[in-house]
Amino acid sequence: MNTNTTQQRVLTGDTPTGRLHLGHWVGSLENRLQMQTEYDCFFLIANVQAFTTRADQPTEVHQSVIEIALDYLAAGIDPKKSTIFIQSEIPAIAELTVFFSMLIPYPRVMRNPTIKDEIRDKGLGENYPFGFLLYPISQAADILTFRPALVPVGEDQLPHIELTREVARRFNQMYCHVDPHTEDADYLKQGGLFPILEGKLGRLRRLVGIGGPGPDGNLLKMSKSLNNAIFLSDDPDTIKKKVMAMYTDPSRLKATDKGHIENNPLWIFHETFNKDVAWVAAAKQRYQAGTIGDVECKQRLIEVLVELIEPIRQRRLQYEQDLHYVNAVLRDGTARANEVANHTLQLAKEAMRQRYF
Ligand code: TRP
Repeated sequence: MNTNTTQQRVLTGDTPTGRLHLGHWVGSLENRLQMQTEYDCFFLIANVQAFTTRADQPTEVHQSVIEIALDYLAAGIDPKKSTIFIQSEIPAIAELTVFFSMLIPYPRVMRNPTIKDEIRDKGLGENYPFGFLLYPISQAADILTFRPALVPVGEDQLPHIELTREVARRFNQMYCHVDPHTEDADYLKQGGLFPILEGKLGRLRRLVGIGGPGPDGNLLKMSKSLNNAIFLSDDPDTIKKKVMAMYTDPSRLKATDKGHIENNPLWIFHETFNKDVAWVAAAKQRYQAGTIGDVECKQRLIEVLVELIEPIRQRRLQYEQDLHYVNAVLRDGTARANEVANHTLQLAKEAMRQRYF
């Protein structure tokens, strides 16, 4: 376990709603692998957040927590360097959520574009639970409890990061007497408890799925619920089938027709995952000229994706044989996370004059 306390901290996490896919990989996972050598990394499995839409599916949430842990380990997150932990086992997060919820006006919570998108995309109508609206505040608590320097996230999480920054500014102003005119970077120097931290996007803002555009004509993002994902645990055969069936350029009926590169997942995937830049550049030109077919380009993409995913899948199979180990990783990670979290909670209560004993 990492006991290095001089490194800056990084915190990020995933809601356990299934296995991780390529969108998670480019959005944040590959970033995390790099960061774990330079930062003291905390990776949270947000099972309480999963309950905002799955309170009636506790067994699935439990299973998904294990799936995410397996995906993390298989992807190369190293528990000797990084701390993997479970949200519901960190009482300080729940306590800080309640205090933080007093700092943000209700209409501000409703002005969150990600919340609006989720209500629409998940068809929640008017029936979402009260706790669903609370989750961005709870996410601010997930983050601030660890007082990280950086939070690697996908683009859709940026509204939550902005809210987190607002919570931190408010708390620091109200309870640590930091002047409201202070620059974000100077809050800690001025006596604030919580950093006004940054979100760090992956090299791609969002990865499209393999299923083509949605009703508005725009390509949909890769998502398990949209059924357009390639998972980090897919076997070569599944990858092959998915890529062969993947949406490309609908205006191209014959392989010899001129093809379009823009908004074509085939080329978005090659550009994102194929390291053979020269091949991609040449093949793109041939595609536009109608001298290379979809099938050949797809076969190349299958090779590229299998090369990335197969080692991950193989490692995952190993960990699946050793769930005791996975459980120990989660238990030890959660214990270490609680040490940091309880320390922050104590400091926060002191700042709020709510320590009595
Ligand atoms: N909302 C994030 C998602 O759905 C998961 C998450 C929960 C998270 N808490 C977090 C991400 C804290 C970053 C930081 O993917």
